[in-house]
Amino acid sequence: MSVEHAQVQRADFDQLMVPNYAPAAFIPVRGQGSRVWDQSGRELIDFTGGIAVNSLGHCHPRLVAALTEQAGKIWHVSNIFTNEPTLRLAKKLEDATFADRAFFCNSGAEANEAAFKLARRVAHDRFGAEKCEIISALDSFHGRTFFTVSVAGQPKYSDGFGPRPEGITHVPYNDLAALEAAISERTCAVVLEPIQGESGILPAQQAYLEGARRLCDQYNALLIFDEVQTGVGRTGELFAYMHYGVVPDILSTAKGLGGGFPIGAMLTRTDLAKHFSAGVHGTTFGGNPLACAVAEAVIDVVNTPEVLQGVKDKHQRFKTRLEAIGREYGIFSQVRGMGMLIGSVLSEPWKGKSRDVLVAAEQEALMVLQAGADVVRFAPSLVIEDADIDEGLERFERAIARLVRS
Ligand SMILES: Cc1ncc(COP(=O)(O)O)c(C=O)c1O
Repeated sequence: MSVEHAQVQRADFDQLMVPNYAPAAFIPVRGQGSRVWDQSGRELIDFTGGIAVNSLGHCHPRLVAALTEQAGKIWHVSNIFTNEPTLRLAKKLEDATFADRAFFCNSGAEANEAAFKLARRVAHDRFGAEKCEIISALDSFHGRTFFTVSVAGQPKYSDGFGPRPEGITHVPYNDLAALEAAISERTCAVVLEPIQGESGILPAQQAYLEGARRLCDQYNALLIFDEVQTGVGRTGELFAYMHYGVVPDILSTAKGLGGGFPIGAMLTRTDLAKHFSAGVHGTTFGGNPLACAVAEAVIDVVNTPEVLQGVKDKHQRFKTRLEAIGREYGIFSQVRGMGMLIGSVLSEPWKGKSRDVLVAAEQEALMVLQAGADVVRFAPSLVIEDADIDEGLERFERAIARLVRS
């Protein structure tokens, strides 16, 4: 019997896997749209979207078709050659954004790693070795490589791994005065999430991003937007920077780009991209034809007025009901976010208990997320049916009612 056909259970995780995750008690085995079935055949509604990854839900027919068509053509050629899906995807992303150059990789962390390295390289080439400081926000999250955890403002992820890379400064988010005080001629880049995702779905203020852009221009620093979580239609625009009208120099994206197939991208301009000349940076699987073919289909479906408007409409549907639940049970102090990236902030008595909400929801056959201990996060499919939203929120209300009474 081959390994993939052996009977496995959740308990095997604890014997077989490195214990860096603590997965739920059930194992999902099949998904369709916003419904998921576990090993026992129980059907759940999915408001997690694989943590803002399954942008078109599970097994969207256009994505299945793109993947299977490409699977019968060519899977991998390495970057010694280019391939058609890579070039088509790059063109689509560049036609739709500020960028005119793309670098493909496999994850958000890797897209950020490329972004930070490019920013340092550009500054090094143009201004010399002294201009190497990166400014980022406290409570930000940029991935789990050692450079990206060091740049991100959450020491709990970078403590205990030996000396961190130098030249990184952290400032409070949405505090323009703090950024102004920290930036200098030594700064090569400022990196910001337009909405801080992992730390609680906290949107940037308009004046903050505008001010960051102005300061970067003044100090010859590059503005990097980490749109790993906010990109590819998640907020109701193709990228969140489009809501603000503040254009970055470098943008990283991943998660939703492949709709569940691993891919990341760094988007930038030609004048910056030229500092990554042949051999300066790379990755074996970057621009893999399977990943790019699927991502192309994701962009084709998502980047349409109907889908993007649908994301905004669905936001309102979620928000109205979540606010009503918050009022009824006194459990939320605020519902915030954009599009299909929503955070319900727990009220004072419930602070620190987002995990309890997750567990209660799961008992009602509903999958939801945390964004830190104080925020319940919803990141469902961008094309989730209204009926699934309504039914999922029914289940959510039942879960909250039970939790409040317990
Ligand atoms: C804003 C942001 N940047 C980077 C990452 C890291 O992406 P990945 O886990 O694909 O490396 C994440 C993941 O949650 C994220 O939310």
